[in-house]
Amino acid sequence: MNENRDNHVMIVTGANSGLGLATTIELAKTGASVVMLCRDQTRGERALQQVRSTVENDQIYLMLADLADLDSVAAFSRQFHDRFERLDVLVNNAGVFMQNRGETKQGLEMQFGVNHVGHFLLTLLLSDLLAKTDDSRVVVVSSGAHKAGRIYYEDLQLKNKYNMVRGYAQSKLANILFALKLAEYFEDKNTAVNCCHPGPVATNLGIDRITGFGKLIVGLLKPFFITPEKGAKTQVALALTDLGSKNEAAYYYKMKKTEPGKMAKSREDAEKLWQISITLTKDYLPEAILSQQAL
Ligand SMILES: NC(=O)c1ccc[n+]([C@@H]2O[C@H](COP(=O)([O-])OP(=O)(O)OC[C@H]3O[C@@H](n4cnc5c(N)ncnc54)[C@H](OP(=O)(O)O)[C@@H]3O)[C@@H](O)[C@H]2O)c1
Repeated sequence: MNENRDNHVMIVTGANSGLGLATTIELAKTGASVVMLCRDQTRGERALQQVRSTVENDQIYLMLADLADLDSVAAFSRQFHDRFERLDVLVNNAGVFMQNRGETKQGLEMQFGVNHVGHFLLTLLLSDLLAKTDDSRVVVVSSGAHKAGRIYYEDLQLKNKYNMVRGYAQSKLANILFALKLAEYFEDKNTAVNCCHPGPVATNLGIDRITGFGKLIVGLLKPFFITPEKGAKTQVALALTDLGSKNEAAYYYKMKKTEPGKMAKSREDAEKLWQISITLTKDYLPEAILSQQAL
C-alpha cells in the first residue's frame, strides 16, 4: 500500500482527530500531497505536527474549512483550485454526533448539515478535479447507525422531536444515498465512489469540543472500542487499493463488501435527496453543474 504517489493529491475531511487523523497518516505514507481539511486552526496545527513527526512527507498541508458553513466550503474549494490541478482521493470523513439540536450557519440541523450537506457541496465543487484525474476515488465514511435512520422529508431539519440518534442516523443514511447517486454522476468519468462503516471506534465522536460533555461516557466505552488505526483500515483501503467497486457505490465493513440497510438501497430516495441537496446548495454551485440538474 506504500507505493510512491508523490504526484497525487488527497484530501481528508476532519483530519485532526480520530479516524481522520489515522487515515491522514496512512495516506501520507504514500508520498502524496495530503490536505488536512480541519475547522479549527489550533487543533489542525497540532494534528499537522503529529502527522509530520510520524511520517516523512513534506507535502502535508492544513487547510481550514467549516463544513457547517457553505460559504467556508466554497472558499475552501476556491483555494484548493488555486493550489492544485488534480484530486486523486477525497475522504469525506468529518462528522458530528450531537446531544442537543444545533444549526449550521445556513440554518440546517447540524448533523444533516455537516455530515451530509457540507460534504455534498464540497464534493460537487471538487468534482471537476476528480473527474479529470485518472482512477480518482471518493470515500464516504458512513456508519452502521444508518440502519436506524430514515430521511424525514416532512421535517428534514428535525425541528420537531429532535434526538441525537434520529439526527445522526438520518445523516449517515444520507451519506450512503448520496454515494449511490454520486457514483452515477461520475459514471464513465473514472471516479469510484464507495462508503464504509468503520465499526465502534475510540475517537472524540460525541464529545462537545467546548464543554467537554460526553468525555466521561466515551472514556468508559473505550475498552470495548477498537483503535482509530484499526477502524480506519477500510477507508484507507478504499482510498488506496482496488478494494472498492468502480461504477456503483458499494458499502464496506471490515474490508468486505456488505449489504447496507434496505433504505440505503433506494434509488428513489437517493434521487429525491440529491434534488433536495442541490436546492439547498444551489447558490454555491456553478452554472455548469446546475444546468445538468432537473430542478
Ligand atoms: N467513532 C465511531 O465509533 C464511528 C462509528 C461509525 C462511523 N463513524 C464516523 O467516522 C467519522 C469520523 O469520526 P470520528 O469517530 O473519528 O470522530 P472525531 O474524533 O470526533 O472526529 C471528527 C472530525 O470531524 C471534524 N468536524 C466536525 N465538525 C466539523 C465541521 N463543521 N467542519 C469541519 N470538520 C468538522 C472534527 O473536527 P474538530 O476536532 O475540530 O471538532 C474532527 O476532526 C464520522 O463521519 C463518524 O460519523 C465513527
